[in-house]
Amino acid sequence: MSAILEAKDLHLSFKGVKALAGVGFHVVEGEFFAVIGPNGAGKTTLLNVLSGVYEPDKGQVLFRGQNLRGKSPQARARMGLGRTFQGLEIFRGMSVLDNVKLGAELALPTYPPALPKAEREWRLRAWAEEVLDYLHLSPFRHAPAGMLPYGLQKRVEVARALAGRPKLLLLDEPMAGLSLEEKQDLARFLLDAREEWGITLLWVEHDLRAVLELSDRVLVLSYGEVLYHGPPHEVRKDPKVVEAYLGHG
Ligand SMILES: Nc1ncnc2c1ncn2[C@@H]1O[C@H](COP(=O)(O)OP(=O)(O)OP(=O)(O)O)[C@@H](O)[C@H]1O
Ligand SMILES: [Mg+2]
Repeated sequence: MSAILEAKDLHLSFKGVKALAGVGFHVVEGEFFAVIGPNGAGKTTLLNVLSGVYEPDKGQVLFRGQNLRGKSPQARARMGLGRTFQGLEIFRGMSVLDNVKLGAELALPTYPPALPKAEREWRLRAWAEEVLDYLHLSPFRHAPAGMLPYGLQKRVEVARALAGRPKLLLLDEPMAGLSLEEKQDLARFLLDAREEWGITLLWVEHDLRAVLELSDRVLVLSYGEVLYHGPPHEVRKDPKVVEAYLGHG
């Protein structure tokens, strides 16, 4: 098993606040990798650095062996590094299908070979429909995305990210605000996507029960530092993690 992502000694400060203070870890191809930690630990900042929203002050990110320094978020997405956002990033006025087609554009290289416009449109649509079907969103394909209940909007965002055929998908609290049933549905879709499309998953999550049930390995951050990096069943026993995050309850 080889590392699909390696982060080495990442540092990033915002006006004196050290959001990341020497974060290093790796993600193995095919795994479900969780990042947890208290509010303000640096989890979203880490995703922003991995996806190219910010460049780190120091350190590097290697994705499939390639150094990502200087590469834009778009370039990273084309290389197979997809993401979803904390909160929701969909185009509310656009149909569900059009939202997912936007994601699918990433997966359809324009060059080479350039496809005739009609064929390109047909292929985009066919792939977007397949993803919608996969996530049980087909019945809503023509609805404006913003009209759907929150749980389904969240699923549209995941569908759009999956439509870009990422090799590694970064998810920032995908389960926040979902009901237990919606969480279970989303977990199943993600695990199926991993099996069927070979996608590696890195998710930031507050729902510890879900993390411990689903993840292969866990990274715990606190104040921008790594407290723990290893299998989920041992994280509860780690004294530093208990102290900083889990508490003694
Ligand atoms: N753009 C920014 N400008 C200034 N400070 C920032 C910025 N982004 C993050 N920070 C600070 O960096 C630290 C880490 O924030 P981050 O959003 O990464 O935490 P988080 O672990 O995702 O928290 P949460 O669980 O609440 O989402 C916090 O102190 C935050 O205030
Ligand atoms: Mg966050």
